[in-house]
Amino acid sequence: MMKGVHYLVTVALLALASTLAFAYDPSPLQDFCVAINNTDSAVFVNGKFCKDPLLATPEDFFFSGLDIPGNTENQLGTAVTNVDVDNLAGLNTLAVALSRVDYAPYGLNPPHIHPRATEFILVLEGTLLAGFVTSDPDNRLFTKLLNPGDVFVLPIALIHFQINIGKTNAVAFAFFNSQNPGAITIADAIFGSNPPIKPDILTKAFQLDKKVVDYLEKIFHA
Ligand code: GLV
Ligand code: MN
Repeated sequence: MMKGVHYLVTVALLALASTLAFAYDPSPLQDFCVAINNTDSAVFVNGKFCKDPLLATPEDFFFSGLDIPGNTENQLGTAVTNVDVDNLAGLNTLAVALSRVDYAPYGLNPPHIHPRATEFILVLEGTLLAGFVTSDPDNRLFTKLLNPGDVFVLPIALIHFQINIGKTNAVAFAFFNSQNPGAITIADAIFGSNPPIKPDILTKAFQLDKKVVDYLEKIFHA
């Protein structure tokens, strides 16, 4: 009898924990809530206002163009094309988004985090080395070589990256469990913040020569 109660309590606690774990974006309380842009009022909602459902159209749930490669002619050799609630209003409250990522040969999607989503990356073309690092104190690095058809999970808020280690272009699609996963690119946030973080803080934090910090802050603000 007691064992049965313990079992039920355990199941109830697990159910509660998994509800909390999945309750990230707000759950929809209706079929959908096509986003309209927040007006310039002083009031903000957590997400976006809903369009009158009777005025919703198929276009609100449609996006076209992910067949077009992004332009990878940049310093990193990568391009990320996002489809999220900002350009697909029907995603509002539905807790999903995706991106197409193009990589030139040796292109790098640099270390970054998504503050609001776990990511699932699927490689369609090329060969990527993908990795993520766990939080303190272990900071374990998990890496995996990914070929077409392979997927890799990048847990929410952990630093991750991918590099195209092949001699040809690579293409991947990334799926997120948020309508607005957000991204913090570590180098941009640290060395390119506005206004800049004082160099002595970064010199100490990264154990670098002040000249190196000055140089990095200069190029990340160029
Ligand atoms: C890949 O990590 C991406 O966020 O596009
Ligand atoms: Mn990512």
